[in-house]
Amino acid sequence: MNEEATLQYQYIEKAKLIIAQKAKDKGSPLTCCVQTFGCQMNARDSEKLSGILKAVGFVEIEEENADLVIYNTCTVRDNANQRVYGRLGVLNGYKKKNPLMKICLCGCMMQENTVLDKIRSSYRFVDLIFGTHNIFKFAELLVRMYEADEMIIDIWKDTDQIVEDLPIERKFHFKSGINIMFGCNNFCSYCIVPYVRGRERSRKPEEIISEIEGLVADGVVEIMLLGQNVNSYGKKLENPITFAELLRRIERIEGLERIRFMTSHPKDLSDELIEVMKNSKKICKHLHLPLQAGSDRILKAMNRCYTKEQFVELALKIRREIPDIAITTDIIVGFPGETHADVLETIDVIKTVKFDNAFTFQYSKRTGTPAAAMENQVPQEEVTRNFDELLAVVQQTAREQALRFEHQTLDALVEGINEHDSSLVTGRLSNNMIVHFKGCPDLIGKIVPVYLKECKGFYYLGEMK
Ligand code: 5AD
Ligand code: SF4
Repeated sequence: MNEEATLQYQYIEKAKLIIAQKAKDKGSPLTCCVQTFGCQMNARDSEKLSGILKAVGFVEIEEENADLVIYNTCTVRDNANQRVYGRLGVLNGYKKKNPLMKICLCGCMMQENTVLDKIRSSYRFVDLIFGTHNIFKFAELLVRMYEADEMIIDIWKDTDQIVEDLPIERKFHFKSGINIMFGCNNFCSYCIVPYVRGRERSRKPEEIISEIEGLVADGVVEIMLLGQNVNSYGKKLENPITFAELLRRIERIEGLERIRFMTSHPKDLSDELIEVMKNSKKICKHLHLPLQAGSDRILKAMNRCYTKEQFVELALKIRREIPDIAITTDIIVGFPGETHADVLETIDVIKTVKFDNAFTFQYSKRTGTPAAAMENQVPQEEVTRNFDELLAVVQQTAREQALRFEHQTLDALVEGINEHDSSLVTGRLSNNMIVHFKGCPDLIGKIVPVYLKECKGFYYLGEMK
């Protein structure tokens, strides 16, 4: 364990005493609620927050009227920010009724100066704010918060530290995310991530492997390797290694059944990776490959470093090599200067590649990014019209693609009980699609063969074989 982790364990001990005293005064254990906004990276970070909170004595609950509420925020698009501001108002109401209550904010949104200014001036009831780079200091920050009676703000601009080995409270006992790298160096012109998550840093392969081995020993069968651009993993390590080679090594871990990863940048996706995926028994038949736009002019303005033709060629090569793979994507509509003709180019790619699913977003102007300063912002009515047209094609294509697997029997990892009908369980196929079928709770965490009886568009109804 490194020095920083040892220090944080000392803070955990200190925080334990503080929380125990408060619980004694209250007459029952202190409760906490961790709310996650945004991506898989944030979901993983939240497991780290929950791990610390549990270690110092909190009991986690779902409701936001807890004794400590922490929002792990996202700032990729402005609507995520607006949701946080809206919900902070509600939290203030709870806080007025519960003098013990502490409100904490962390994550990407907190790395922005404009956000900090706004919270300092208009949300003075917040107790603790920290960012993406110092989440490993959470125990220390908790102690500082309980010792102070003013708002604590600790934001770092960047870091080269990777601190592991701290407590983690996993949401699922059978699957887990694992950070393989942090940050992003791509600077797509619309995207705020490189500014709030810092420069790209890869973890050493040995550390990743040993973390996965630990998880497998603990009952995990499926892992998701996380990074903003996993295809550039390892290039800058002291002993460079490719992402494909990392996958080969992970594949050898006994007891591990399924490997997923996200996100892949098309510009860095190698033939070596396609080869490894094709020959693997464990890597899932799913590739998330963000297109963003199909017009060369817009791709250039976005700084995506590939053309429409290159993207289509790559996607079709993957389909040729791995026919049963599902390819999903991200698309942005309304980037500055985007015309209807540009959107038709994107639609053309959707129809050619036949994405199995796509997350479609309306462009959101992020202060500080090059695109925010571009003059030709697209009027909202035009964005809405183009978005609706494109979404209809995405949905149609996804439905057609899903039909490919109807009447096949595929393995599903059972993830939980169906929310609407407790006689059903919900499983995830290798291609990331969902199937509901009759089954009991003790199937959760197991991989079982399921006959896909009926395709319902975006999910299946099935029967266990
Ligand atoms: N506006 C809209 N969508 C965005 N994304 C990133 N930045 C923006 C933005 N400013 C989308 C991209 C990315 C996904 C995670 O979020 O499609 O792949
Ligand atoms: Fe943002 Fe582009 Fe980096 Fe993805 S690759 S996080 S879209 S800058």
